[in-house]
Amino acid sequence: MRSLIDILELSTKELDRLLATADDIIENPEKYAHKCAGKKLATLFFEPSTRTRLSFEAAMYELGGMCLGFSEAQSSSAAKGESIADTAKTVSCYADIIAMRHPKEGAPLVASMNASVPVINAGDGGHNHPTQTLADLLTIHREKGHFDNLTVGLCGDLKFGRTVHSLISALSRYKNINFVFISPSELKIPDYVKESLRKSGIPFTETTDLEAVISTLDILYMTRVQRERFFNEEDYLRLKDSYILTPEKLETAKADLSILHPLPRVNEISVAIDNDPRACYFKQVLYGKYMRMALILMLLEVE
Ligand code: NCD
Repeated sequence: MRSLIDILELSTKELDRLLATADDIIENPEKYAHKCAGKKLATLFFEPSTRTRLSFEAAMYELGGMCLGFSEAQSSSAAKGESIADTAKTVSCYADIIAMRHPKEGAPLVASMNASVPVINAGDGGHNHPTQTLADLLTIHREKGHFDNLTVGLCGDLKFGRTVHSLISALSRYKNINFVFISPSELKIPDYVKESLRKSGIPFTETTDLEAVISTLDILYMTRVQRERFFNEEDYLRLKDSYILTPEKLETAKADLSILHPLPRVNEISVAIDNDPRACYFKQVLYGKYMRMALILMLLEVE
């Protein structure tokens, strides 16, 4: 039995398999419509979510399975003081697989150590978000056809943005990747991430100026400033509109730039860009569902 807590638990070979399965689901959805008949997915969400929870549930329904769960901590026994370990043991009695989101870093890992069914990390605090990375990877793969030789700009809240951390880990395993980190100085990429890039000899640069680097990028991954991780509202208000991507700022960008965003968008991308052929963020939402279908099949060991 296998869980998914960190994206690096999947080898690049396994990622290729997931991407191929997702492509096949897109081509032949009827082939998969009953693969998980009789199986149940529990979504345990201790933090707000639209895409991640609903795409997990849609994924399970499209595989012919069923879903149960809760979407806020207050409606679960966590509100009475139940531990993650006990919740995981309990839900293992009801479901075949669990997707958990929690504000505390490491909570899904603790759940996986206590559950008797696979646990998927659906976002843990400001740490990791491996299934968003699966959505991001399918988007990049379908747009570019490969992961090698890309200059990838990540812009916004690189400190608390968990999707950023998981995506960097995943892309670090490909050849000739070059990262450009664009953030206010208060929201820089954490040292532990930089340290691991240095160790692996992966080039990266840091800047506060999006316009100065936009012309060099193949991928631009925009992110929201993570208000819920701030200690005070004043800092959030000062930093929240640090970057707003507008059609004017895109003037010097490559014609084949791919613009990604894990969403929700607050102000980071002007809606005027939504119809630009380079905007991939709504495709990315759809791809997230297909990758979650592929992942559920893999973890449930469904042929
Ligand atoms: C992200 C998250 O929850 O980390 N959302 C998502 O799952 N697509 C990004 C965010 O909330 O900013």
